[in-house]
Amino acid sequence: MRLDGKIALVTGGSRGIGRAICLQLARQGATVWVNYVANAAAAEEVAAAVAAEGGLARTIGFDVADGAAVAAAMKEIADSDGAVDILVNNAGITRDGLLARMKEEDWAQVLATNLTGAMHCTKAVLRPMMKRRWGRIVIVTSVIGFTGNAGQANYAAAKAGLVGFCRSVAREAASRNITVNCVAPGYIETDMTSVLSDEVKEKILANVPAARFGRPEDVAAAVGFLASETAGYITGSCIHVNGGMFMG
Ligand SMILES: NC(=O)c1ccc[n+]([C@@H]2O[C@H](COP(=O)([O-])OP(=O)(O)OC[C@H]3O[C@@H](n4cnc5c(N)ncnc54)[C@H](OP(=O)(O)O)[C@@H]3O)[C@@H](O)[C@H]2O)c1
Repeated sequence: MRLDGKIALVTGGSRGIGRAICLQLARQGATVWVNYVANAAAAEEVAAAVAAEGGLARTIGFDVADGAAVAAAMKEIADSDGAVDILVNNAGITRDGLLARMKEEDWAQVLATNLTGAMHCTKAVLRPMMKRRWGRIVIVTSVIGFTGNAGQANYAAAKAGLVGFCRSVAREAASRNITVNCVAPGYIETDMTSVLSDEVKEKILANVPAARFGRPEDVAAAVGFLASETAGYITGSCIHVNGGMFMG
């Protein structure tokens, strides 16, 4: 499971699940680039937390939805440390609302960040990975991409889209020793879910056989496994981290 000498990039690494993934990969020995879009201070805090444990992390701000910004960031990382070996497409947003009333803008923003953002980052790392004949790409999708959810047609479409994207790129890259897999969290306690009402939270919890909400570390453990040499024969797959709320 060691990742010594590997360069990892975690999009949306500044908070929540991404933060835990940064800590996990650094504990396994990778040099971690912590991406953020707006919250530089939170990203610095993650880098400091990694350093406090004896690991190495750097921060890098860019919007995954902006293809030119992604390309520039990849160049910055390559010039500093070398090409990305492990990409975790974790950045994601919600703009919830029933479809009948959903603004075009809320649809477009969620698709641009959650789906197109992962495409930009994956495309940018793929060629150098192919040249080096080693790579790990992990995509954070969601249980909602499998079950759907009233009020989240945009988010569910993006997350389900990531599953098809993952399987296609996995087929394109497998012969070069590059794996592409998804991790699908259920309900995890982060800023994203803290906005839900107690009533909604109780309803969700009633459908979780494990009878507790997930922690960012639960998701990070699955990502750490898929990023490792140990998981080298697993590709195009999805690990569900949801306490049993959906068994895929
Ligand atoms: N929490 C859950 O229950 C749950 C369940 C299933 C799936 N997920 C998925 O897990 C991932 C992480 O979720 P979370 O709950 O940890 O979210 P979160 O706490 O809201 O954090 C979101 C992260 O994404 C970054 N981000 C947002 N838009 C970005 C953009 N355009 N470019 C680059 N970074 C961007 C944020 O950066 P800033 O700090 O700069 O804003 C932040 O680091 C998401 O893909 C989410 O859909 C979460």
